[in-house]
Amino acid sequence: TPLANIRNFSIIAHIDHGKSTLADRLIQKTGGLSDREMSEQVLDNMDIERERGITIKAQTVRLSYTASDGETYQLNLMDTPGHVDFAYEVSRSLAACEGALLVVDAAQGVEAQTLANVYQSIEHDHEIVPVLNKVDLPAADPDRVKAEIEDIVGLPAQGDWQDGGAVLTSAKTGLGTEEVLEAIVRRIPPPTGDAEAPLKAMLVDSWYDPYLGVVILVRVMQGRLKKGLSIKFMQAGTQHLVDRVGCFGPKRTELPELKAGEIGFITAQIKEVAETAVGDTITTVKNPTDAPLPGFKEVQPVVFCGLFPVDANDFDKLKESLGKLRLNDASFQWETESSAALGFGFRCGFLGLLHLEIIQERLSREYDLDLITTAPSVVYKVHMTDGTLRELHNPADMPEPVKVANMEEPWIKAVIYVPDDYLGPILKLCQDRRGIQQNLTYVGGRAQVTYELPLNEVVFDFYDRLKSISRGYASFDYEQIGYREGNLVKMNILVNGEPVDALSMVVHRSQAEARGRQLCERLKDLIPRHLFKIPIQAAIGGKVIARETISAMRKDVTAKCYGGDITRKKKLLEKQKAGKARMRQYGNVDIPQEAFIAALRMG
Ligand code: GTP
Repeated sequence: TPLANIRNFSIIAHIDHGKSTLADRLIQKTGGLSDREMSEQVLDNMDIERERGITIKAQTVRLSYTASDGETYQLNLMDTPGHVDFAYEVSRSLAACEGALLVVDAAQGVEAQTLANVYQSIEHDHEIVPVLNKVDLPAADPDRVKAEIEDIVGLPAQGDWQDGGAVLTSAKTGLGTEEVLEAIVRRIPPPTGDAEAPLKAMLVDSWYDPYLGVVILVRVMQGRLKKGLSIKFMQAGTQHLVDRVGCFGPKRTELPELKAGEIGFITAQIKEVAETAVGDTITTVKNPTDAPLPGFKEVQPVVFCGLFPVDANDFDKLKESLGKLRLNDASFQWETESSAALGFGFRCGFLGLLHLEIIQERLSREYDLDLITTAPSVVYKVHMTDGTLRELHNPADMPEPVKVANMEEPWIKAVIYVPDDYLGPILKLCQDRRGIQQNLTYVGGRAQVTYELPLNEVVFDFYDRLKSISRGYASFDYEQIGYREGNLVKMNILVNGEPVDALSMVVHRSQAEARGRQLCERLKDLIPRHLFKIPIQAAIGGKVIARETISAMRKDVTAKCYGGDITRKKKLLEKQKAGKARMRQYGNVDIPQEAFIAALRMG
């Protein structure tokens, strides 16, 4: 295909606005699959993605479309992950395209998260084609949403689609599919790049396939990628031999080569995705390009937590499962950790909270593991009095206060979009979480608020709170904006005088009392009575800042329990044994598993 007949584009859409349904329509229209094959949604191919409605791994399809001008075009549709945690991956997918469809639900209108991706797309100099989907819905209001696209996004949308306006579609009925394809061909520019220059290709994504090994999605910027070629990953500094070249149409098809301007996949006998870095530049060993592509970034986990098996016998199984997950997800990191309360487990790092949730859910669902997750923590920078700097991933590793000169914590800039009615409580939530308001604007009946917030206040349950306060209407997007000094302290929870490591956390001094009190109150309800009085305390260093007491059980109650006939006693003992597995002994206090989980779910 000549460059002039290639179009590379992605679809930007808020969750549920119909990205997958529209993509399916495009595939159907261009004959990539039979009707029977179409019955399965093609792009979202993982169960969890489907159920949660989140696209996690980028999938790309090549379509062949004969346009009204009589020419046949190669359309490469690049799917992008739909969540903030995967922002860097999104940026690389966008860098591989020349244009984008901006799909907006014609009833819901523009959402904050869509905006973040649109701005990125604009930064990549994309030609953006607005698509108003779901026009079949009675609540659809294309005129209002067109005006929103012009006001909020700053893209022309009003005119007819042939004159640069938005395309109206119903991915459900198929209305407008042809127009979308025509708009792609007419409005999105073809790629440029010299096929005879030395190879320069971007590693856009990679995933593990049990039959092929690691499959790498590439966009060739210049030169050619062929089977048998010795290639070099410029950032990783490694070399490989290309053994397959091809594309997905959406079925996997092998091709003789991929040349400048094209998107497709290669395999090169790579065993783990960890060997491939998104954004890396691929060139040839023999005739390399002189400089790598700009914009490469090594992704770093920002949220850490401990994962412990509920049943200590599951440790090896958990380890194996984590290893399997890592095969396909290099951004997820882990190392072994031991806790006096929870036994042996793993300290894991994630790109964000959603990433954490996804991994947690896979472990419990796909691998059938019962897990305890400790409170998520961010990475703190600890400046020691001896002048050294430490990165703190785990509150349990916090150095003694006297050795700490000061601490820094990561901050984010959050953009929240919310209907007017819910604005008050949202502002209060941000304020309570040490937020600094930056901006507040209104569009229609909705407010857009920008806050700077410490990430550690967000990792607790900010997102859940936001959703419940706004009845699900608020949307939230964030980016990291660097580290700032904060008055941070380690708070210990003592049960019967003994610190429970799994419950310790780093908090801002101003939040410590409230959090400590809350935690103690919860634990009081969660830990069963014993034969003796149990104090529960929250403490900073040696100073107790909150305290609750679980009163002692009355002796005669137990006496009665353990008396009686032999079968009853046996039953009781069995029950006790079963219960034991779910208890952690702490000093001489039994703390039930649920207590850890519930206590850590901060309100
Ligand atoms: P993610 O994959 O979660 O990002 O969602 P998505 O944007 O891909 O949305 P998806 O295509 O899964 O559509 C979301 C819901 O909207 C589904 O229930 C679709 O059936 C429905 N839907 C999609 N397009 C239309 C449309 O044109 N009209 C109507 N009425 N419903 C639609």
